Amino acid sequence: MCGIIGIVGNRPVAPRLVDGLKRLEYRGYDSAGIAVIEGGDLKRSRAKGKIVELEAELSRAPIDGLIGIAHTRWATHGKPTVANAHPHISGRVAVVHNGIIENYETLRASFDGARNFESDTDTEVVAHIMDAALSAGMTPKDAFAHTLKQLHGAFALGVIVGDNAGHIYAARRGSPLAIGLGDGENYIGSDAIALAALSSDMVYLEEGDSAIITANSVEIFDENGTAVSRDTTRIDDAAIATDKGPFAHYMLKEVHEQVRTTGQTLSNYADGESVKAPEGLDFTAFDRLTLIACGTASYAGHVAKYWFEQIAQMPCEIDIASEFRYRSPVLSPRGLAMVISQSGETADTLAALRYCKEKGQTTIALVNVMTSTMAREADIAIPIDAGPEIGVASTKAFTSQLMALYALSVLAGKQRGGIDVAAEADLMKAAAAVPALVGKSLLLDAQIKTLAADLAGNRSAFYLGRGPHFPLALEGALKLKEISYIHAEGYAAGELKHGPIALIEDGTPVIVIAPFDELFEKTVSNMQEVLSRGAKVTLITDAKGAKLAGHMAHAVLTVPDMPQTVAPIVLSVPVQLLAYHTALALGTDVDQPRNLAKSVTVE
Ligand code: M6R
Repeated sequence: MCGIIGIVGNRPVAPRLVDGLKRLEYRGYDSAGIAVIEGGDLKRSRAKGKIVELEAELSRAPIDGLIGIAHTRWATHGKPTVANAHPHISGRVAVVHNGIIENYETLRASFDGARNFESDTDTEVVAHIMDAALSAGMTPKDAFAHTLKQLHGAFALGVIVGDNAGHIYAARRGSPLAIGLGDGENYIGSDAIALAALSSDMVYLEEGDSAIITANSVEIFDENGTAVSRDTTRIDDAAIATDKGPFAHYMLKEVHEQVRTTGQTLSNYADGESVKAPEGLDFTAFDRLTLIACGTASYAGHVAKYWFEQIAQMPCEIDIASEFRYRSPVLSPRGLAMVISQSGETADTLAALRYCKEKGQTTIALVNVMTSTMAREADIAIPIDAGPEIGVASTKAFTSQLMALYALSVLAGKQRGGIDVAAEADLMKAAAAVPALVGKSLLLDAQIKTLAADLAGNRSAFYLGRGPHFPLALEGALKLKEISYIHAEGYAAGELKHGPIALIEDGTPVIVIAPFDELFEKTVSNMQEVLSRGAKVTLITDAKGAKLAGHMAHAVLTVPDMPQTVAPIVLSVPVQLLAYHTALALGTDVDQPRNLAKSVTVE
């Protein structure tokens, strides 16, 4: 949520800042801007909208220098306008910021009208505080430290000072910030992806750290202002590769990648037909598992609850992080808490992780970004290993989360004595079959495109499922909503008659997710209930299910028969493609849907 990049170097920075912003655009795309120091003066360029608008502004009125900071915004305080776009400048100070300064109103008021504020943002006050400190005679280093002391909230900051060219001041409190190391240049970035074209050697600031970065030096201070040294991490190229290849959109590329990524994830948790335990993870030490996540990751957790209960007979709860953290949940003294997050930075999920640690839970972070804050703060960090996911709509991270959680439920069953060697082998063989089944599901693409053209003409849609396919119905509705802007609701198929069925009328699209399993007949009965009220039903099922109930539906998407336990992973593919093609038919911005950002680092 918002992306920051900064360069202090020996060559012009503006084009490279813009390139870095493009890599960060997945974090927010309401407005963008850069500030550089040109001949001792701050120069700024900003534009509303995506980075291409900033590029156009820069070609109209070029600015450049050997040092600069840049920002792409996902609006929190203040509308997406040029005036609210970062960098914010006061006097000699330019600031880019990711996160929220919670006490900004009090801080603004403390100036008592003495300073002229030009924006509605929480950020601008940071520039004013530091500029006032400089005017009072403080050195830039002291003025920055003084400024940080005034701020409450979660933030990452990058600051330059007009008459102090050659220094970037950076800080991290709550929001991630990395320092990239170069040759005669150094960089700051919200993540390694931002700096992919510049550096592979990253130093991740820790909570409360601040830093002063020049072309040839990096000084880091902890929250007490004591100089500290932090490890350098070499970033694997694959972890920051972000090209679209031959695909029209990142989302489509990532949907197709699932043939590989589901297998790649499994390789972390499987040793032939045995399940492999991540280091330090022993489910016998715990009597309850609490899963916590947001959005799509929470739906992966919902599916996993069925697996942990059915395969491992382990008590398991799932909660969305924004609710969990504020409801004073009662946790077992022998509890294990697992946060699930693609980015590893989602503010609510991170806060839930910290809450669980405080309450004495052993914590696991299941994350895609192993250098993320959650990975660093949890007792045990384990990989989703789906590779970089750039499309705002999560796809391959979801199926990889499912794959990892499935294997972990098998591990819990094995360690807790609920399943024997033969059952373990069967369950792991089922997991190994997933990549090929995903490949076969992709063959539905042309049929789904035709169905999507029809779905695109509707204002709303329903998704129904039972058991682990109920959370998949929720995920299907979320995917459709976020990229096509069609109102969609996911329901447990048995719950529909308790109210929502009132909304079904002639032609209402209903997508029923029902592979042939022990709940199939019940779901088919619910499908009949909506059919008799005029719904236009698309049934997503397997070959057996299609044979038994396909004739009842208006359209059937049939995947090959598969082991029942892994059906939610395989059936994710047609669900994702249906949302993708519907959005495409409507001409929306599939990879960067309106109002959204990939990584939600504010509450
Ligand atoms: O990075 P995280 O997995 O923690 O993100 C959680 C949600 O913000 C994310 O899954 C969101 O719901 C996606 N846009 C869904 O496609």
